[in-house]
Amino acid sequence: MKTLKESFKDKFLVGAAVNAETIENDQELLKKHFNSITAENEMKPMHMQPEQGNFTFDVADKMLQFAEDNGMELRGHTLVWHNQMPKWFFEDENGNDVSRDELLRRMKAHIDAVVTRYKGRIHAWDVVNEAVEDRGEQVYRQSKWIDIIGEDFIDYAFKYAHEADPDALLFYNDYNESHPNKREKIYQLVKGLLDRGVPIHGVGLQAHWNLYDPSYENIEAAIKRYSELGLQLHVTEMDVSVFEFGDERTDVKEPTKEMLHLQAERYERFFDLFTKYQEHLTSVTFWGISDAYTWLNDFPVKGRKNWPFVLDEKGEPKPAYHRIVK
Ligand code: XIL
Repeated sequence: MKTLKESFKDKFLVGAAVNAETIENDQELLKKHFNSITAENEMKPMHMQPEQGNFTFDVADKMLQFAEDNGMELRGHTLVWHNQMPKWFFEDENGNDVSRDELLRRMKAHIDAVVTRYKGRIHAWDVVNEAVEDRGEQVYRQSKWIDIIGEDFIDYAFKYAHEADPDALLFYNDYNESHPNKREKIYQLVKGLLDRGVPIHGVGLQAHWNLYDPSYENIEAAIKRYSELGLQLHVTEMDVSVFEFGDERTDVKEPTKEMLHLQAERYERFFDLFTKYQEHLTSVTFWGISDAYTWLNDFPVKGRKNWPFVLDEKGEPKPAYHRIVK
């Protein structure tokens, strides 16, 4: 039986999100199936610069070393986000919002330090994460970035990253990327960046999907639309929850046959789509390694387990695996 990376080797990279524990404990599984990794949390601003000017690079260094020792790529995630930012970032010593100029200075200092440290060694950076509003007409999600700097915070983030490492691939990354309304907003946002000459090289589709949503039609329409930008596409955080949105049951102790069957069918069609667009789509990363651990345990429903991957809790192939590894 082929491994995941063997199976897709002429098509796209196959990645896994890792954290401080799994990078230690799951090395064999990582080496076997994957040729790319992403830090699940450890390269976010909260972890990289918990206090102003105090950077903690040790876990990220270790992950990158592991990747390089084993011929894997590392996707850098993420530089500018509304979440998992240390509180000091947006505040002055009195707890008030800093000025636009000061926040731009802090953004530049952060990006400079992190991108320069790993210059030439990161496959792609998620420079800006989740800046688009989910519903309605409003384009930008409310955040300190937009409140204090304004819409051009995105342009600046990409410019600073490009200055720090001119050869790095720079991505805009978002979720609900396949929902038509948000898809169009993301498309227009990235198109605007390109029109203004902002250095951007790719769009990240997080792909936090489930057994029922999004539809194949919407996913294909999104991949097609983003392809028109002429940039690389990466699937950056894939998981396929066995629960529908709104299903809040916490008493499901193992996935039913029906769930596993439907999940397998979904995965097969998703990967068929990825393969169809392989000219544009160059990397597919799962937001974890195997069902032994997923951030979806406890999110969005506390105390609920989930089984969103193609490898089971023991790291063995699930029905979904057999439908994508052909
Ligand atoms: C998640 C991690 O998996 C969790 O451990 C953490 O508590 C919150 O963040 N979109 C992203 C990721 O871009 O960084 C998020 O990761 C999941 C949603």
